[in-house]
Amino acid sequence: MSEIFTIKIDGRECVALQGETVLQVARREGIQIPTLCDDKRLDPAGACRACLVEIDGQRRLQPSCAWKAADGASIKTHQSSPRVQRHQDVLVSLYMSDHKLDEQGLPVETPNGNDLRAWAKDCSTLKLEPVNAPRVARPGDKNPYIEFDPALCVLCARCTRYCDEVEAVNAITLTNRGSETTIGTAGMRGLLDTSCELCGGCVDTCPTGALFEKKSPKTTPEEVTKVRTTCNYCGVGCQMDLNVAKVNGQERVVRVTSPEPGTTVNDGNLCIKGRFAYDFIHHADRITKPLIRGQDGKLHETSWEKAIAFAAEGLMKAAKRHGPGALGFVSSSRCTGEENYLMQKLARAAFKTGNVHQCAAT
Ligand code: SF4
Ligand code: SF4
Ligand code: FES
Repeated sequence: MSEIFTIKIDGRECVALQGETVLQVARREGIQIPTLCDDKRLDPAGACRACLVEIDGQRRLQPSCAWKAADGASIKTHQSSPRVQRHQDVLVSLYMSDHKLDEQGLPVETPNGNDLRAWAKDCSTLKLEPVNAPRVARPGDKNPYIEFDPALCVLCARCTRYCDEVEAVNAITLTNRGSETTIGTAGMRGLLDTSCELCGGCVDTCPTGALFEKKSPKTTPEEVTKVRTTCNYCGVGCQMDLNVAKVNGQERVVRVTSPEPGTTVNDGNLCIKGRFAYDFIHHADRITKPLIRGQDGKLHETSWEKAIAFAAEGLMKAAKRHGPGALGFVSSSRCTGEENYLMQKLARAAFKTGNVHQCAAT
């Protein structure tokens, strides 16, 4: 069993477990500490310095995302330490000096939100001279899904660490030196010419929107309603959020995102199909209304009530004429557990047959 002890954050007694970081304890207690490079799925990197806190006995401010909580430690965040707040004001201003800003002088909003923008709103930012940071993108990268804007990158390395630690692919890396440091690939090739699997996890973890989805309309987070659903591309049952927004007056799915890491079975991850292959939803060829074949041999649109009654009548007629054993019900591992349950219930309870199957049962 883990050892339990207490630490103090901003004078408040907090319970901590052996091995937890100060940031993990603070989050559980609802104490806000800004972060950019932290992602629950990745080892702490201490790269962005947004989360620095004052720790009794330590001369320098320390990264709460990497610093392990120790029994009896006393910690101050920006909420009780003017020194930490001063650090944050200067740091966020430095980040902004080579970041794309809007007309209010704030880091620009991006479709999945920009954590630097949210943080800058809480700080007294300084007006620093813009810095010329000639970072390069990968112009002409022909991959159909992922785009990179170096002017929005804060070099937190979440994307490269995700690609390494979660995907074990290492298609992207921090490349060049100093102010020219950027996110590159081997020989700055397009992603299609690397080991990239186009999972989109790098886009998902990016805190500032420097990595974004090429084909998705540029909506703001406020314009989007997220609808939780289960991916139906395979039997794993990943949870996904359909991002719905109005495009030309019509509600459309404008992108797919994964729920917060640690909250669903897929832990914030999705594959290329789950994340990017959603065009079929609004495809003109998609059958969205039930059809019944008429006496003329052609399919005609009808209501769901009529279609279900028609199918039930046909099945009952067949069962009556040939016995329930003449019927078979086939479901799919791509359906949810609830749908599969209903299919076997329909077969066994309504039609009294055990002839029910689905591909995952073999
Ligand atoms: S899409 Fe996935 S595999 Fe490709 S670079 Fe991003 S994280 Fe790596
Ligand atoms: S692209 Fe995004 S995730 Fe990658 S280093 Fe830049 S800001 Fe961080
Ligand atoms: S979140 Fe701790 S250093 Fe980046």
